[in-house]
Amino acid sequence: MRSKVTVVGAGNVGATTAQRIYERGYADVVLVDVVEDMPQGKALDILESGPVLGTDAQITGANDYAPTAESDVVVITAGIARRPGMSRDDLLLTNMRIMQSVTEQVVKYSPNSILVIVSNPLDAMVQLAQKVSGFPKERVVGMAGILDTARFRTFLAQELNVSVTNVSAYVLGGHGDTMVPLIKATTVGGVPVSELIEADRLEEIVQRTRDGGAEIVALLKTGSAYYAPSAASAQMVEAILLDRKEILPCAAMLEGEYGINGLYVGVPIKLGANGVEEIIEVELSKAEQTALQASADAVQELVDVMAESGK
Ligand code: NAI
Ligand code: 2OP
Repeated sequence: MRSKVTVVGAGNVGATTAQRIYERGYADVVLVDVVEDMPQGKALDILESGPVLGTDAQITGANDYAPTAESDVVVITAGIARRPGMSRDDLLLTNMRIMQSVTEQVVKYSPNSILVIVSNPLDAMVQLAQKVSGFPKERVVGMAGILDTARFRTFLAQELNVSVTNVSAYVLGGHGDTMVPLIKATTVGGVPVSELIEADRLEEIVQRTRDGGAEIVALLKTGSAYYAPSAASAQMVEAILLDRKEILPCAAMLEGEYGINGLYVGVPIKLGANGVEEIIEVELSKAEQTALQASADAVQELVDVMAESGK
């Protein structure tokens, strides 16, 4: 029997994530959105690619949650996306209301699922989803670090004219302007990146990584990135469904790790069938630890705003 994955929000990130999971062939997918007929239309279109791709998985669209019952993994992308001039944090209050109602429905129908949260501002949304769901922290995880790290790896590979597969890196912290690309842990073919790229140029690449989301928003003008975000989301779903125990940077609830307590922040985790199976503590330089704490403080500010608004 195939696994079952629900993707809530059939917009750019949600529909593309659903497509990527469907194309892998080992999971049936339910795509949910509030817009009438739209998820059904996108799901049917994706389903009709099956004969060409040679996959027998099923994908359906819905405007309610009954068809999502007993999902193994639920990816939540519902919400509004950034437009030019908006930060991820500008989405907070609107997406908070959406995340609350979506999570309540998801939990009602799939009480044993693992939640992969994508909606922005990511770290605040995953914190809210865990609280609303009442799920153990291991079963609620956020997608951002894989995307931010992929951007960093892309820019480094371009700079050095090497395969992206040779660039090993981590971007930790919150999914915002305070994210923390780790220099010490970044290697290219096993060589520390600081030995290959001058410090000033490396700082420019770090800054481009921090601005990676805004760079795409400025080009697209009507929305934000979705090809790389959906690839990252699908990688997380696969790590869970196939119990890959893959070490990936994701937003996870910290309880003392990295000196941070009671907060979702991006760190390397082991992701497998049980969700967040382990938090990996890599050695940070003093500056990186300070930057990670500053990033956590920025996440805490958003969590406090949500708390003040009664959530
Ligand atoms: P989009 O606007 O294309 O799609 C959002 C979809 O959510 C729309 O189809 C909308 O109808 C739906 N929706 C709204 N309220 C809903 C509800 N209550 N129930 C079900 N569906 C609902 O936006 P896009 O580009 O797909 O982005 C989705 C979210 O993901 C945004 O918040 C965006 O900022 C975030 N994002 C996060 C990333 C990350 O790294 N964590 C990367 C890229 C996007
Ligand atoms: C991104 O980083 C908007 O969070 C989204 O592209």
